[in-house]
Amino acid sequence: MLKPRVAVLVSGGGTNLQALIDARDAGTLFSGKLALVVSSKAGAFALARAKAAGIETEVVERGSFSDQKAFEEALLRTLRRHQIDVVVLAGFMLILSAAFVSHYPDRMINVHPSLIPAYCGKGYYGLKVHEAVLAAGESVTGATVHMVNEVPDGGAILMQKRVPVLPGDTPQTLQRRVMEQAEWSLLPQAAEMICFALLQKQTEGNTDGSKSPV
Ligand code: GAR
Repeated sequence: MLKPRVAVLVSGGGTNLQALIDARDAGTLFSGKLALVVSSKAGAFALARAKAAGIETEVVERGSFSDQKAFEEALLRTLRRHQIDVVVLAGFMLILSAAFVSHYPDRMINVHPSLIPAYCGKGYYGLKVHEAVLAAGESVTGATVHMVNEVPDGGAILMQKRVPVLPGDTPQTLQRRVMEQAEWSLLPQAAEMICFALLQKQTEGNTDGSKSPV
């Protein structure tokens, strides 16, 4: 088979998208093709990163649709039009329904900026996570990459890394450290793992035992 086609879903600055692009360019993300970036916000800087890296882009904004169902149908149509096999949520700030998630079983992952099960689920996203960690006086935080299922931030954990909270941290300094020390390395590794597994599965599925080109 061909390499799995990966869509990266974003909403903002896209530093995690950049980490995926850098891993592609360094040859450490090689079992999948970064085929599409979908942003839930028209002005997201992540779109400029994608264009600079030669990746196709689409914008699907929640506000353009009457309800969540119509939004998700449009998102699904977009992914299907680009023949997407694997979905990576990289700073995607919307919660997707069980119905949507069911279209990508074992093929959708998310990066979250805490040590799940701490500071996750509805209401915990972006800087809010780091604000909560600091407010609670934690000395250690981190990041998690997990499979996406019907429970927000509730799917099986693939990778986690601990990161220290330092005296004088602000939500911004802590966010940056969690990204630098955890997210930007975990997410590309997990994306490679998922694409490699899918490639293996499909190669094994060839009834004549032949290997298809990758
Ligand atoms: C990242 O810290 C990511 O883990 C988090 O938002 C930030 C996006 O940054 N995602 C969530 O909180 C989702 N629940 P980026 O746009 O620079 O990658």
